[in-house]
Amino acid sequence: MKKFVLKDVKNIEKVRVYLEKGNEFLGIKGYTDHGLRHAGIVSKLAGNILRELEYPQRVSELAEIAGYLHDIGNFVSRDEHGQTGAIIAMNILEDLGMPYEEVAVIAAAIGNHEEINGQIISEVSAALILADKSDVHRSRVRNRDKSTFDIHDRVNYASQKSSLLINKDNDGSHAVLDITIDTSISQVMEYFEIFLTRMMMCRRAADFLNASFNLVINEYQLL
Ligand SMILES: [Fe+2]
Ligand SMILES: [Fe+2]
Repeated sequence: MKKFVLKDVKNIEKVRVYLEKGNEFLGIKGYTDHGLRHAGIVSKLAGNILRELEYPQRVSELAEIAGYLHDIGNFVSRDEHGQTGAIIAMNILEDLGMPYEEVAVIAAAIGNHEEINGQIISEVSAALILADKSDVHRSRVRNRDKSTFDIHDRVNYASQKSSLLINKDNDGSHAVLDITIDTSISQVMEYFEIFLTRMMMCRRAADFLNASFNLVINEYQLL
């Protein structure tokens, strides 16, 4: 049976159109970028996390697909976009001819990626959460008028660098989120104000993958 990979999913026109439409609609409400750029970054990162933690190749390939499709529900509505996205992804992957076992893993990861109602239920889901929550970057801010920035715009705009690395030492594996924040735009405190629940989710996700979660901001290890 053919093994479908990210490239097969990217080639589906419906995927591109729905992701772009979702991003366009969110842009109207002033949200940060959730389009093809975010999809690509999260996809790549989710796959890398599992590869570096030495999970089977197929598991990281599924994480790449889940990462690419995770925000596809946004074109229907921002609310519950994880749930709608899971159903949309399910339709797309079933049409492609993917085995139901794999479709289920991807759909469940997508349905569980939101902070409000997400549960970590598989390696793919854990990697997706770590990858998604660590994409905090200036280039995601679409509002060009700084005087109208809200806290999300400020924190994202202040983030000059954000990377999630897997480090290994004698104590085991560590998922390290390393962020450089321009504190003249946003204080580290603001980052915590909106990211506390995300960081707690990241810690649970890392734990699921038998790794610790570390947060480094401006070279200080805070977690
Ligand atoms: Fe999302
Ligand atoms: Fe996302």
